[in-house]
Amino acid sequence: MFASPRISTVGLGYVGLPLAVQLARYFDVVGFDIDGARIAELKSGWDRTGEVDADALRNSSIQFAVDEAALAGTDIFIITVPTPVDEDNQPDLDPVRAATATVGRNLTVGSLVVYESTVYPGVTEDVCGPILEAGSGLTCGTDFFLGYSPERINPGDREHTVDRITKVVAGQTPEVTAQLAAMYGAINNRDIFEARDIRTAEAAKVIENAQRDINIAFVNEVAVIVNGLGLNMRDVLEAANTKWNFLPFQPGLVGGHCIGVDPFYLAHAAHLIGHNPEVVLAGRRINDAMGAYIAGEVDERLARGGARVLLLGLTFKENVPDLRNTRVVDIYSSLCEMGHNVDVHDPHADRSEAQKFFGINLLSRLDDAIGYDAVIGAVCHDEYAMLDTSSLACLLAEGGLLVDIKGMWRDTILPDDYRRWQL
Ligand SMILES: NC(=O)c1ccc[n+]([C@@H]2O[C@H](COP(=O)([O-])OP(=O)(O)OC[C@H]3O[C@@H](n4cnc5c(N)ncnc54)[C@H](O)[C@@H]3O)[C@@H](O)[C@H]2O)c1
Repeated sequence: MFASPRISTVGLGYVGLPLAVQLARYFDVVGFDIDGARIAELKSGWDRTGEVDADALRNSSIQFAVDEAALAGTDIFIITVPTPVDEDNQPDLDPVRAATATVGRNLTVGSLVVYESTVYPGVTEDVCGPILEAGSGLTCGTDFFLGYSPERINPGDREHTVDRITKVVAGQTPEVTAQLAAMYGAINNRDIFEARDIRTAEAAKVIENAQRDINIAFVNEVAVIVNGLGLNMRDVLEAANTKWNFLPFQPGLVGGHCIGVDPFYLAHAAHLIGHNPEVVLAGRRINDAMGAYIAGEVDERLARGGARVLLLGLTFKENVPDLRNTRVVDIYSSLCEMGHNVDVHDPHADRSEAQKFFGINLLSRLDDAIGYDAVIGAVCHDEYAMLDTSSLACLLAEGGLLVDIKGMWRDTILPDDYRRWQL
């Protein structure tokens, strides 16, 4: 057991950077990433994800590196690289494989390699272990050891930060599990759960997010039914929520890097054993169809084609700059296909990324935005939630339609001649 391990985090994004900053308070930490621009910005004290503030970054002892030579002498490698899906919604393990190959080249006898990236059961031992062996010429389980510790942080969530949530850990041997418990326990007040084995920990992570996706899919399907019945979904939920065991999920778009992606990893695992994961994939279908459904409801209420529509919010969730897999673009592209003219505003999104990923030129300010036929509140950024009656009325043309996907203006009264629709 290492008393004071030298740790390298491989991948410094939403997950890797906050983790590296916390670990660096207690250990010698190298923060490695293949993206030179990311390393340069972190060295300058700026985190574009907004998860770590400038002071914490500048005061951290992390040794940022884009050159893998910095990984030499590492005792514990922690891999926190992306695990997206490809165009067929199949797990894309290329970043995990590439990061593993890098670690393999720098592995020494006695090292541990821990994965935090979300994967399906078996990836750590069956996919990564052999890559590490091939790269290092060492034997897994004898010369070096594997571990898995799923990450549960939630971008933009300042309450459930990496130092304040229960950390599930699993090692290839009890000694490795104990080492991981000691390392992670140092940063989160020893709030550790030791899973039975690596596959169990991998499965636990992937079902956490699949469960969330399915629960949201249920309320999304109910929202479609309730709206069709001419009822207000939020009113229905408010009443149902008074039951002690009713689960308080809200309808909406499911985007981002995790909830909308991880169920496909579970589905892949199911297919590997010849099982058709009906509920898991139904949840994905329902949630992925919500953008088109919302656009259809808006279009039906617009008196004419070629209406002017303002979309407020483009990121995948409130108060974060993350545009990955945002489903707001489904509303945007559906409305454009229907012939409407759609402007988009988002104070958190990076303008060049919005242009690069989606070809959307974000409005730079809302001050000049007036007289729209419809205004759609798509993301509950604080800046939008605080818009009052007169600001909203100003954005709209007389008789315009206010669309409230997040229920953020539920209690805001609009003058009688305006119309509204809420998911
Ligand atoms: N974002 C979240 O809130 C969250 C929460 C829990 C779990 N996860 C999981 O954590 C993992 C990482 O997600 P993220 O959101 O931090 O991703 P991210 O895209 O924000 O960051 C990943 C980083 O890894 C770097 N990278 C890619 N390939 C690399 C390689 N071969 N070597 C070194 N660096 C490499 C990228 O340059 C990037 O900086 C994913 O598996 C994700 O599903 C994410």
